[in-house]
Amino acid sequence: MDLYCVMGNPVEHSRSPRIHARFAELCGRQQMEYGRRLIPLGAFAEGIAAFRGEAAERGDVARGCNITVPFKFEAAALAQHTSERALLAQAVNTLRFDADGGIHADNTDGIGLVNDIVRNAGVPLEGKALLLIGAGGAAAGVLGPLLDAGASRVVVANRTVDKAVELVRRHAAVALRHGASLEAWALDEVPGAFDVVVNATASSLAGDAVPVKASVLREGGLAVDMMYGPAAAGFMAWAQAHGAVARDGLGMLVEQAAESFEIWRGVRPPSAQVLAEIRAELK
Ligand code: ATR
Repeated sequence: MDLYCVMGNPVEHSRSPRIHARFAELCGRQQMEYGRRLIPLGAFAEGIAAFRGEAAERGDVARGCNITVPFKFEAAALAQHTSERALLAQAVNTLRFDADGGIHADNTDGIGLVNDIVRNAGVPLEGKALLLIGAGGAAAGVLGPLLDAGASRVVVANRTVDKAVELVRRHAAVALRHGASLEAWALDEVPGAFDVVVNATASSLAGDAVPVKASVLREGGLAVDMMYGPAAAGFMAWAQAHGAVARDGLGMLVEQAAESFEIWRGVRPPSAQVLAEIRAELK
């Protein structure tokens, strides 16, 4: 049996085991199990070693894992090779344990968001104006893939402007390669309106008002919160009230899982179907 898991702290509410179990069923002939492991703070490397060791004791093989809060920033240190997008994000959400003993590190969050916007929401990003609110780990994980998807104008706005400036600086070469404009602004000074607005802050979770003015939303534009459930409700209600199409982060969650699954198994799972199923289960 090939073993996978999600490692984090906390991790008990993770929907990844459910998503990967459905992927495995729908892809057929997948001899795999996907669990969740609570890793003590400060013991990430030990957690990986324990996962691999326990799998071997059972006669199984640990093939990889997803990594969630707060370990995304330290996972790359264990890997022999790290993807370009994970290097740019400075965060890893997927490890693959290869047969030669090597560990490959990747970040599928950004491509998960892009695939959800383009394929599931049906909004192409080519040539679009995009506002990314936030400049923490969640925003860093998606900015590179959003630029790669062809957005022609991208603004990063953050409460702490210096962090937006730093994130923009780190992505300047990617923007240049695509001929895109990339700017950093303070939240209340963002100029213009956008086809797509992505909320990568925890503002809804904190119960705070949406931190940007409603004029950033274009009528009929798309507004995506990277969270889902109650944590996304405030932002989505605000977006809808101002004429935008609101979307939560459940699609991103399923699509980042699909990308990880393909990295591990070499098979593309039917993510749109699983997204519909998980959404129905949450109702
Ligand atoms: P994550 O990994 O979820 O991105 P993080 O790195 O702590 O977590 O970043 C949280 C983001 O949400 C930051 O952009 C933060 O703004 P600051 O950099 O100024 O701290 C933003 N954020 C959190 N609460 C907010 C609020 N009430 N209003 C506006 N922005 C908020």
